[in-house]
Amino acid sequence: MPRLGVNIDHVATLRQARGGNLPDPVYAAFLAEQAGAQSIVAHLREDRRHIQDQDIKLLRKKIKTKFNLEMSIAPEISKIACSIKPYQATLVPEKRKELTTEGGLNVAANFKIVEAAIKKLKAAGIRVSLFIDPDKDQVNAAQKAGAKIIEFHTGRYALAKNPRQKEKFFNQLKHAVDYARAQGLAVNAGHGLDYANVRRIAQIQGIEELNIGYSIICKALYVGLFAAVKEMRNLIS
Ligand code: PXP
Repeated sequence: MPRLGVNIDHVATLRQARGGNLPDPVYAAFLAEQAGAQSIVAHLREDRRHIQDQDIKLLRKKIKTKFNLEMSIAPEISKIACSIKPYQATLVPEKRKELTTEGGLNVAANFKIVEAAIKKLKAAGIRVSLFIDPDKDQVNAAQKAGAKIIEFHTGRYALAKNPRQKEKFFNQLKHAVDYARAQGLAVNAGHGLDYANVRRIAQIQGIEELNIGYSIICKALYVGLFAAVKEMRNLIS
């Protein structure tokens, strides 16, 4: 059964809407852990649209499970990560105008920069995961760059417009998981997963962790964060 990592970025999105202190992402992380989250994910974006530098300092101190810092390969962010030292860094692509992380990191096209970022983070004692599309070439490039962990972007499956497309993207993902496992990589997955589509993904053999944010925070508006996380844990198991 995959572990559940809860992404709390959108608690900070709501806070930034008014620029005050509420809602507090650190308290959200605490509640998520109480409800069974096995790690907490936060993305310090270069444009600081939700999570702020102070949040990751506090999260590093307060998280009792594991802190997975999502980040771009920009040297400024690597420097911050190396001083905060989260349990894990997940390298993602970042575009200023995107609403969310729209695709996986193109490791092959940014090979030298990714390889250097992995080296730097590992030297600081941080485990590194690469967020990539479920694609053989990306898996090979990730491994060549020194990654031992990858996270597959599940967005194409989650956003598929019809059952045929959904099946196609599900199979792509399943084959990519098998391939990556055969190469000896630890495999996680996430993006766009929700209460309706998560069970099928959770049943793919070899996925160790699912990282989920938006759907949980949305559900929390109706039922509270504790109940929303608990329900997601139940669905995964
Ligand atoms: N994993 C990674 C690497 C991500 O970038 C995101 C989005 O921030 C997620 C998981 C969670 O995606 P969602 O918010 O759609 O559940």
